[in-house]
Amino acid sequence: MHRSTLDLMTEEFGEAVVLADLGTLERYLRDWSGDHRGEVLAVVRPASVADVQRTVRFCRQYGLSVIPQGGNTGLVAGAAGRAPDRAVIVNLERLNRIRGIDAENLSLRADAGCTLQQIKDASEALDCQFPLALGAQGSCQVGGNAATNAGGVNVLRYGMTRDLVLGLEVVLPDGEFWNGFSALRKDNRGYDLKQLFIGSEGTLGIITGVEVKLFPRVKEVETAYVGVRSFTEAMALFRRGRSACADLMTAFEVIGAECMPFAQMIKPDLRIPIDAPVHILMEASSSGRLGLRQFVVDFLAEASEDNLVVDAVVAETIAQARSFWAIREGLVEGQGRQGFHVRTDLSVRLSDVAALIEKGRLLVASRYPGWTSLAYGHAGDGNVHFNVVPPSTLPEAEARAIGAEIEKALYDLVTREGGSISAEHGIGRSRRDYWWASVSPVHRRLLKAVKSALDPDDLMNPGCLLP
Ligand code: FAD
Ligand code: LAC
Ligand code: ZN
Repeated sequence: MHRSTLDLMTEEFGEAVVLADLGTLERYLRDWSGDHRGEVLAVVRPASVADVQRTVRFCRQYGLSVIPQGGNTGLVAGAAGRAPDRAVIVNLERLNRIRGIDAENLSLRADAGCTLQQIKDASEALDCQFPLALGAQGSCQVGGNAATNAGGVNVLRYGMTRDLVLGLEVVLPDGEFWNGFSALRKDNRGYDLKQLFIGSEGTLGIITGVEVKLFPRVKEVETAYVGVRSFTEAMALFRRGRSACADLMTAFEVIGAECMPFAQMIKPDLRIPIDAPVHILMEASSSGRLGLRQFVVDFLAEASEDNLVVDAVVAETIAQARSFWAIREGLVEGQGRQGFHVRTDLSVRLSDVAALIEKGRLLVASRYPGWTSLAYGHAGDGNVHFNVVPPSTLPEAEARAIGAEIEKALYDLVTREGGSISAEHGIGRSRRDYWWASVSPVHRRLLKAVKSALDPDDLMNPGCLLP
């Protein structure tokens, strides 16, 4: 009897293969936004590094491509492709052990399938912190964070994932295992190969282990919610605040007031502490007792005297600080619930943030009446999520077609401003064509050279990042 590849796979990997009913498969296929649904032959969930190797070798033998997947929280359709007979998703959720913490060296080693929250909790248990922080931290995996070079709300002080990774372990497209673990902060022995895999979006290998830098746990955290009249004033406040708070600012998030209804969609009783055209959520923290509160209070008082601040509240309790963050997290969830919308993560120089938002708003208002611009993001890093929501009466198919046009117009705008179409979410499948058309021939040659050196047969995540 002829046995299908799928039968062979089930025989080989047993319970690690998820196929069963569609209900079980769905969460691996459909992304968080609901915009993208992949189709694959099977999902395999190896529970050891050796099993990851075995899976890659099996796929190679049977001509199947491999799509690495973490928490499937990525926003650019990188973790699932459409190749019903030719692709296998390798999800790492069962490879989820914290391997060890070296509190003296301030480093932690973990399986790539650990969630970011797991890493953060394990660090805190030893009076340390892992500062990477993002809305999806309960579900995204540290391997996924490395594969996308995730950013989040603390980049200002601690950098992107790239700055936080000390070493990696990778299963290569030929099934070989590369041990690039290191607990060293300084090491200049040749090319820094781990950096090739960071941000590679699953196109060069499967990250199976990550070693990260830890930091002393913060003892003082001050969270303020501030209202200003414009994004220009918000950026002026940021410049002052960073030095006034002794460079201890860890987050500086801006939120246009137009985003508030989306936060309240999730929690109708959510209290918005101020009324102003632009809201700022800022946090300063230190691992020692410095009296940080006074820095923040003095800074805001001086800015108010100079008429830069409309209103400001410094959180009195942890619960109040959490309620400020709930606004920031809620508005992302609210947009998700709303259904299809244009979602971007643009970045420009700090000096151009306000102009980018202004020009984006003008573009939408003048050419797409009825569409709502939402601007928020990690302004302290020059990173704006400029999203655009269709009129509720517009049929979805039409909204998607016009949305694609708006997205392109916004990418053209940020490119003219000398910025990036992706500050943090990556290229994936959804931005591939626009990005690829914009890179110079030399840049393309280098990208192709890297890909073909590591994955000459294009086994890994074909269609993601590179055409
Ligand atoms: P997945 O979505 O599973 O995969 C993403 C990409 O990485 C895919 O190309 C996949 O093939 C590859 N990949 C995953 N795991 C591996 C591995 N082990 N080896 C090799 N390749 C792999 N991102 C930010 O940067 N900043 C934010 O503030 C932020 N906030 C978010 C808030 C919400 C509510 C949501 C839903 C998402 C947010 N994101 C943010 C996007 C997302 O959470 C990050 O990109 C995250 O790092 C993805 O991790 P993941 O494990 O879910 O990866
Ligand atoms: C955020 C994600 C969407 O900053 O990047 O909320
Ligand atoms: Zn973000």
